[in-house]
Amino acid sequence: MATEQLVDGFGRVHRDLRISVTDRCNFRCTYCMPEEGMDWLDRSELLTFEEIERLARVLVERFGIDSIRITGGEPTVRAHLTVLIEKLAALGTDLAMTTNGSTLRLMANDLCAAGLNRLNVSLDTLQADRFLAMTRRDDLDKVLDGIDAALDAGFDPIKVNAVVMRGENDDELVDFATWARDRGLIMRFIEFMPLDADEAWTNRQVVSLTEIVETIGAVYPLEPVERTSAPASRFRYLDGSGEIGVVASVTQSFCESCDRIRLGAEGQFRNCLFAHDELDLRPALRGGGSDDELADLFRGVVADKWAGHQINKVHFIRPRKSMSQLGG
Ligand code: GTP
Ligand code: 5AD
Ligand code: SF4
Repeated sequence: MATEQLVDGFGRVHRDLRISVTDRCNFRCTYCMPEEGMDWLDRSELLTFEEIERLARVLVERFGIDSIRITGGEPTVRAHLTVLIEKLAALGTDLAMTTNGSTLRLMANDLCAAGLNRLNVSLDTLQADRFLAMTRRDDLDKVLDGIDAALDAGFDPIKVNAVVMRGENDDELVDFATWARDRGLIMRFIEFMPLDADEAWTNRQVVSLTEIVETIGAVYPLEPVERTSAPASRFRYLDGSGEIGVVASVTQSFCESCDRIRLGAEGQFRNCLFAHDELDLRPALRGGGSDDELADLFRGVVADKWAGHQINKVHFIRPRKSMSQLGG
């Protein structure tokens, strides 16, 4: 049992760990990667599965972290991912993954057998031509088939994340809702955040929670569900056929209830998605540092956490890294 909690200067207790296992992706989403592609990390720079497991174990055993999510880039491009999932599942926390869905037909059963509890799949359009334009890959059918495979494998719940962008896919809100209701999926709409690789984000592209809920609620009436520390505001269909979520980072920041810490693929530890600084854990990990020393580093980074990102303030400064490097 953990005897200590990871608390920051604002009294927020941290229980949720997001681990990026790679910055690579088989897609090139326009908002995430520059057209010319990225300079991928050198594989030798990546944390090994043993290193990731050790860091996660210290966080779970000492500080009561009770939820772990595996992210990327696209996590399933990391070879032998199920080996890591088995190691992390043994820690006994809730274990989830966010994926672009393209490999699920091949991997869903193995991921489930390895001990993964929950899946979130990113999908920003249900139209094939748009999918090609947005991801630079003609793989919509593969992703839809991957979601079916995940349903067949028994994952429950499966959340589908759509980043809503004005003029690009905001006419698909009701189509998404209908599609997800029919399949028992939880549809989640995400306000577009200033983390796009091309730095082309403007406030005008953001479609707000209010607009999203009004648009869907006009067709399928909704009522709010009490929120937890999770970033999504939840709404349930009055006819009992499930719920939707909206991640409203821009118009209704949820920083005051944030309980997240993040580990990057190269061992960078950061206390906020938008943080400007991160701590490289590799010197301690690879230089013979003890678990006590690692615990000190975790305490220090969390103690330094700021109140929040301030996206809507003039002095907002975007992090140097893009979403594929941060893992969302
Ligand atoms: P659940 O635990 O299933 O609710 O997952 P999640 O919503 O935390 O994770 P997911 O990877 O599906 O992320 C959904 C959206 O939330 C993405 O656009 C993320 O970038 C965003 N998100 C996740 N964590 C944070 C965070 O700490 N701050 C902000 N502002 N956005 C976040
Ligand atoms: N704003 C909001 N969400 C984003 N994602 C990627 N880039 C952005 C952005 N700029 C989402 C992905 C995925 C999740 C991890 O983050 O679509 O669902
Ligand atoms: Fe937490 Fe930072 Fe996200 Fe705010 S922006 S919810 S502080 S990770």
